[in-house]
Amino acid sequence: MTTARQIIGMIRSHAVGDNDRFLSIAEEIAEEALRAGKNRVAEDIHNLVANVRSNPREAAPSLRPTPLAKPRGELAGLIRVTYPETRLADLVLSADLRRKIGRIVREQREAGALEAHGLAPRKRFLFSGPPGTGKTMTASAIAGELSMPLFTILLDGVINKYMGESAAKLRLIFEAMHHSRGVYFFDEVDALATARGNENDVGEARRVLTSFLQFLEEDTSRSIIIAATNLRTLLDPAIFRRFQGAFAYAKPSADEARVVLRHHLLQFDHDRLDWKEIDGEAAGLSQADLAAAADDSARDAVLDQDGDLTTDLLIRSLRDRRAIHTIEDQ
Ligand SMILES: Nc1ncnc2c1ncn2[C@@H]1O[C@H](COP(=O)(O)OP(=O)(O)O)[C@@H](O)[C@H]1O
Ligand SMILES: [Mg+2]
Repeated sequence: MTTARQIIGMIRSHAVGDNDRFLSIAEEIAEEALRAGKNRVAEDIHNLVANVRSNPREAAPSLRPTPLAKPRGELAGLIRVTYPETRLADLVLSADLRRKIGRIVREQREAGALEAHGLAPRKRFLFSGPPGTGKTMTASAIAGELSMPLFTILLDGVINKYMGESAAKLRLIFEAMHHSRGVYFFDEVDALATARGNENDVGEARRVLTSFLQFLEEDTSRSIIIAATNLRTLLDPAIFRRFQGAFAYAKPSADEARVVLRHHLLQFDHDRLDWKEIDGEAAGLSQADLAAAADDSARDAVLDQDGDLTTDLLIRSLRDRRAIHTIEDQ
C-alpha cells in the first residue's frame, strides 16, 4: 500500500528537484506492490522508472545520471537503505541533547542561509553511550526529519580478513555519499577500531581505523555521517577531532523513564498506576528496556486481563527485562 509518507516524500522531492529520491520512492512502491501480489502495477512502475533513468533528458532535464536508488553490486553487501518515519518528537532526550540534535536538523534545513554567509551545515557526528539509549533512533529521526534515506553501513561486510580490502570497501561507501545523498550511519564503529585480520595480522585493525579517519577528513559530500559507539575509549582525541559534534547518550532520568513508558502505553489508563513504585523498578534500565517492558505489559494486559493494565503487570515486565541482563552478565 502506498502510504501518506511516500506521497509526501514524492511531493517534497519533486519540489526540491531531488529526482533520485523521487524515483527511489517510486521503486519502493513498486517493490511493495510486488510483495502484495500486484505484479502488473509493480512492473508498470519499474518500467516507467527504468525509462526515466535511461532517458533522463527527455523525461526531466534536471535529472542527474546513474542515481543509486538501492545499493547495487558490491555496495549491496555493505549498505542497507531505509526511509525512516521516525521524528525527533518520538525520542525521549534530555533538554540539552534535544536542543543539540534539533540544531543538526535545522542547519541542514537552513543550509542556504548558512551558505549565503560563507558557512556550511555541520555533517559529521559521533554518538556515544550505553546500548539502548537512542543512538540508532536518533540517526533515524534525523533522516526522517530531513526526508533523507538512512544508509546503515554493514560493518561486518566492510571488515575483511584480507589485508587492504577493508579500506577499499570503505572507499566505496565514501564514494556513494557523493552520488546518493543521505544519512550514513556507522553503527558500533568501535568494531573498526578493534577489528583484527587473521591472527598474524594485528596491523589490519590499525589500517582500517586509519583509513576511516582519513576518509572522514577528506569527505566533501553533502551527506551526513553519524558514527555510534558504546565504548568511551573511542572518544580518543584522534577520533574525536574528525567529528564536528560528539554527543553523549545516557540511561534515562526517572522523569524520562516515565515518559518512555507512557509513550508505549498510550492506549491504557495510566493515571491509575502507582508511578512511585514503578519508578523504583524502572531505575537503571535503558530506554530500549523500558520500551520493551511497556510493550510486554501491554500485550499481557490485552491477552490476560481484558485490556486492563495494572501496576503489577508493568512491574513484572520490568523485572523480566532486568533479569535478561542478569543472565547476560553471568
Ligand atoms: N531516547 C529514547 N527515546 C525513546 N525511545 C528510545 C530511546 N532510546 C531507545 N529507545 C527505544 O529503544 C529502541 C532501541 O534503541 P536504539 O536507538 O537502537 O538504541 P542504541 O542505538 O543507543 O543502542 C528504540 O527503537 C526505541 O524504541
Ligand atoms: Mg544502536
